[in-house]
Amino acid sequence: MNISEIKPGIRYVGVNDRTTTRFEGLWSLPYGVSYNSYLLLGDKVALMDTVEESFGSRFLQNIERELDGRTIDYLIVNHMEPDHSSSVQMLRRVYPDMRIVGNAKTLQMLAGYYGIADNTLEVKEGDTLDLGGGLSLAFYFAPMVHWPEVMVSYCPEHRTLFSADAFGTFGTLDGGITDSQVRLDHYWDEMRRYYACIVGKYGVPVQKALAKLGTLPIETICSTHGPVWQREIPRVLDIYDRLSRYAGERGVVLAYGSMYGNTEQLADEIARALAAQGVGPITVYNLSTADISHVLRDVFRYDTLIVGSPTYNGELFPEVEGLLQKLAARNIPQRNFACFGSYTWAGAAVKKLQAFAEQMKWNTPCSAVEMKQGYSHAACAESCRRLAGEVAAMLK
Ligand code: FEO
Repeated sequence: MNISEIKPGIRYVGVNDRTTTRFEGLWSLPYGVSYNSYLLLGDKVALMDTVEESFGSRFLQNIERELDGRTIDYLIVNHMEPDHSSSVQMLRRVYPDMRIVGNAKTLQMLAGYYGIADNTLEVKEGDTLDLGGGLSLAFYFAPMVHWPEVMVSYCPEHRTLFSADAFGTFGTLDGGITDSQVRLDHYWDEMRRYYACIVGKYGVPVQKALAKLGTLPIETICSTHGPVWQREIPRVLDIYDRLSRYAGERGVVLAYGSMYGNTEQLADEIARALAAQGVGPITVYNLSTADISHVLRDVFRYDTLIVGSPTYNGELFPEVEGLLQKLAARNIPQRNFACFGSYTWAGAAVKKLQAFAEQMKWNTPCSAVEMKQGYSHAACAESCRRLAGEVAAMLK
C-alpha cells in the first residue's frame, strides 16, 4: 500500500512541522501542524498548493518520489498565505515550465510576494482544467476563507474537494493521512481552536462557501492542514457550520484576571455556585496564565461567557482587555454574558465590561458583582450566588 495515495492518481506530498512553536507568530502548536499539498497524476500533472518554505527540501523529496521522473505541468494556488505559498519560488526554479494557476487576486499577490508574473493561468469562478487520464478540476471561489483570493478546487471524477484552509486543523499527521488512518481524539478541539484563532472573524463568508459547496457531491476533503477527511465528513461539516453560525453549545466559559487573588476568589465562588445550580460544563481560565487560543476556542464553542476583572490604573486588567479585543475582532454576534469585578479606590472594570457587552449586542440580563478591595466569604458569597442564580435562570 502507498500510504500517500488518497485516491487513484491523487497523492499526498505535504510535510509535518513539529518545530514552529507559534503559528502566524501567535497561536501555540502543542501538537504541531501539517502543511498539506497534493499531486494529481493525470496525463498532465498538477500540484495543489505548496508548503512553508523552511520545509522546501523535504517537500521536494516527497514530490520527486511520487513523480517518479515526471515533471509538474500546473501548480494550483488555492491560497496565498505563505504557509502554503512560500515554496512557490523554489518550485519555479526546479520546474521552470510549471504554469501557475490562480484567480486574478491570487496572481496579483503572487507578483507582490514573489515577483512572479509569467507563465500563469488566470481562472474564473466555475472554470475547469482537464488533466487527462481521468482527472479534472473545477475552481470555485471562497473569498475570506480565510483571505480574499481563496478558492477551492474540485475533482469530480473522485468527488474530492481541495478546500484550502477550510476544514483544517492544527496537529501533525502522525503516520496516517486520512481520518481512518490517524488517531482523531485531539483533532476536534484543534479544529475548533484553528477555526477560532485563524478563520473566526469570517463566519459569514464561511457560511456562503458552505452553501456553495453543499451543491457538490463530496466524498473526500483535502484541506491544507490536518487529516484528509472521508469517514468523518458529516462531523467536520457540522463543526464548521456551528462555528461559522457562532452557534454556541450550552456551556460556560469563565475568564478572569487577578493580581493578588481577590478577583480569583470571586471567580471560584461564582463557578462553584454555578455548578451547585446544575449549570455546566464550566471552564475557568486565569487570563494571566491561560493559553489565549484555548480561551478563544471555548468562547466559540460555548454559548455563555462570564468575565471578571480588577480595575487596573482606572482600566480593565490588561489581559482581560486583550481577550475583549480579540473577541471584538472576531465579530461574535451572540453570546450570553455576565461579569464581575473589583476595585480598591474607584471602580471602572465592571462598567467597562458592561459597555463591551453592550457594544457587542450580547444578551446581558444578569446584574454584575462588584467587590471593593479584598475578598471575604461573608461579604461576597451571597452576591456570587445571586449572579450564579441569574445565569442559571438565563440558561433555562
Ligand atoms: Fe493555512 Fe490561511 O493559511
